Amino acid sequence: MPNKRIQIFDTTLRDGEQVPGCQLNTKEKIEIALALEALGVDVMEVGFPISSPGDFKSVQEISKVIKNTRVCALSRAVKNDIKVAAEAIEDAKNSRIHTGIGTSDSHVFDKLRTTREKVVERGVAAVKYAKTFVEDVEFYAEDAGRTENEFLAIILEEVIKAGATVLNIPDTTGYCMPWVYGEKIKYLYENVKGIQNVTISTHCHNDLGLATANSISGVVNGATQVECTMNGIGERAGNASLEEVVMILRQQKSLEYDTGINTRCLKSVSELVSEKMKMPVQANKAIVGANAFAHSSGIHQDGVIKNRETYEIIDPLEVGVSESSIVLTARSGRAALKFRGKRLGFEVSKNELEEHYKRFLSIADTKKVVTDKDLIQLFSQTSDSLTG
Ligand code: KIV
Ligand code: ZN
Repeated sequence: MPNKRIQIFDTTLRDGEQVPGCQLNTKEKIEIALALEALGVDVMEVGFPISSPGDFKSVQEISKVIKNTRVCALSRAVKNDIKVAAEAIEDAKNSRIHTGIGTSDSHVFDKLRTTREKVVERGVAAVKYAKTFVEDVEFYAEDAGRTENEFLAIILEEVIKAGATVLNIPDTTGYCMPWVYGEKIKYLYENVKGIQNVTISTHCHNDLGLATANSISGVVNGATQVECTMNGIGERAGNASLEEVVMILRQQKSLEYDTGINTRCLKSVSELVSEKMKMPVQANKAIVGANAFAHSSGIHQDGVIKNRETYEIIDPLEVGVSESSIVLTARSGRAALKFRGKRLGFEVSKNELEEHYKRFLSIADTKKVVTDKDLIQLFSQTSDSLTG
């Protein structure tokens, strides 16, 4: 397969901001938007302007300051939503309206209480109306993950004719297995007339912990845009995590995909989002968690000290983490103790190391982590007693 550039559509400031308790003010949103621009995302979805005057203002202000990234606003397939979204992004250098409607039986019959025919009509009308404001119109088929492929193909073909430039296939409830989501994208690619001329986008939720896997499966089967959020935040269990998707596409060289992301900014943008949204990142989170490049067991530490690649598939510098860390706990070995002691300026012989190690273990058994301060005390005291 040829080398393919995958577009990163960040929705941290829209789907991500829907997390209860994570609402941001305009100033905070602008700060994150500028960081996302520096990160190199292709599109940033920055709000749902009809939802509140505050959100409208944020989208409007972000549109004024962002120069290199396409700014997108969400709307339902409702005329006034679309008009307000268009007003909010009026000042954006490059803009997009994201509009759509539920397509699964549950959405059509239970939520919207209508018919499939009416849903197609509303989708087409929404795209046509959005096109009167902007050239770039993305259509989402909400709950596409649980929508019959045949109906999905019908509505997508109609919205392409109406002018949609991007088709979003959300697994809104995080229901699909990776191969099922991939087959859905493949089916659409092969059965929707005109789809080769538009962008297919993934938008996967994480209810079963499959959002990243499903996004990659979508890409392998023809999607060229991935919707995701920093730290994987979003409704319920969240969205596909931007840093995971980007690093998978970068690390798995045999897939021959790439993104325009400046990966060295990943850690700092993750920290910024976590801080502003007051949402801690779990320590074992892939790529950006505090333990993502930390090694604590003796066997792993020995391997990493000899060659980092023994237990690391990513160079931490590539994602903006200054170095791998050797954490000292009661599970650590002599190699790690020697390594950390040397960094603090203590060179010890083999016999001295044995002495230090025994004392180290008795400290480590009483503490979760042995710190530099503990080590300085340990090495100094033992050195004194050895020489004194
Ligand atoms: O999950 C979803 O279906 C969405 C749409 C509004 C795009 O967030
Ligand atoms: Zn969503």
